[in-house]
Amino acid sequence: MKEKAIGFFDSGVGGLTVVREVIKQLPHEKIIYIGDSARAPYGPRPVDQVQAFSWQLTEFLLKFDVKMIVIACNTATAVSLSSIKEKLNIPVVGVITPGSRAAIKASSENKIAVLGTLGTIHSGEYEKALKARNPFVDVLPLACPKFVPIVESNEVNTPNSKKIVRESLKPLQWKQYDALILGCTHYPLLRNQIQQTVGHSVTLIDSGAETVSDVSMLLDYFELANSPSIEPKHEFYTTGSVAMFEQIANAWLGEEKRNIQHVNIGELKDEEK
Ligand code: DGL
Repeated sequence: MKEKAIGFFDSGVGGLTVVREVIKQLPHEKIIYIGDSARAPYGPRPVDQVQAFSWQLTEFLLKFDVKMIVIACNTATAVSLSSIKEKLNIPVVGVITPGSRAAIKASSENKIAVLGTLGTIHSGEYEKALKARNPFVDVLPLACPKFVPIVESNEVNTPNSKKIVRESLKPLQWKQYDALILGCTHYPLLRNQIQQTVGHSVTLIDSGAETVSDVSMLLDYFELANSPSIEPKHEFYTTGSVAMFEQIANAWLGEEKRNIQHVNIGELKDEEK
């Protein structure tokens, strides 16, 4: 059981920000990753569609007999975590609770901004998770629907992306907050630009990176941690372009030869495009 892989899924390349932390903090764990770039972004899609896609990706990972599943996507976590958790007999981890916990800890003023996709912000799940921990916290939610397409097309750090970040964050300009949750696993790829825009007095919380502490704790609790003698061979799957995935993975995880394969998970019907 311990040698089995941990499965990760995201709507695209965003979950690689979680993978980066896993490689750093849990280097003996084998990773199987599926990114659904062909159908990204998930943010503007209806809830039932995101739930259906999340199940397809879960079923894909289950074929590899994974020992744990990490939903490395806030949008999918917001609408699918509870049902996937309920039906599987392996641990399933989402990214919203760990991000909320870290933000509560980081904010001394109890004023927390949350950036996310339309789906995540509309779900209200961050607000719920934050208020469950501290009912007096002020939450400032903001949907940033333009961010995921920038990341998926590998256009971070361009003048256009900087402009989009600045404009998207304008609604927070005169607001008081001292912690900001990057409530989408794609957003850490825009971290520098977000930090520059909101200023250095605001602590940015990377929800995905925070999740790795939960993964580590659950591996220990269920005695599932892999042996340090194992050098894992990770596998990456994308429903989109392998070349684009490889470029972003090299930039984010470092240049190396990776096993990246294209897969078809489910054809988009015309009305789903
Ligand atoms: N990485 C996904 C998330 O954390 C992005 C969702 C999308 O594709 O819009 O929400």
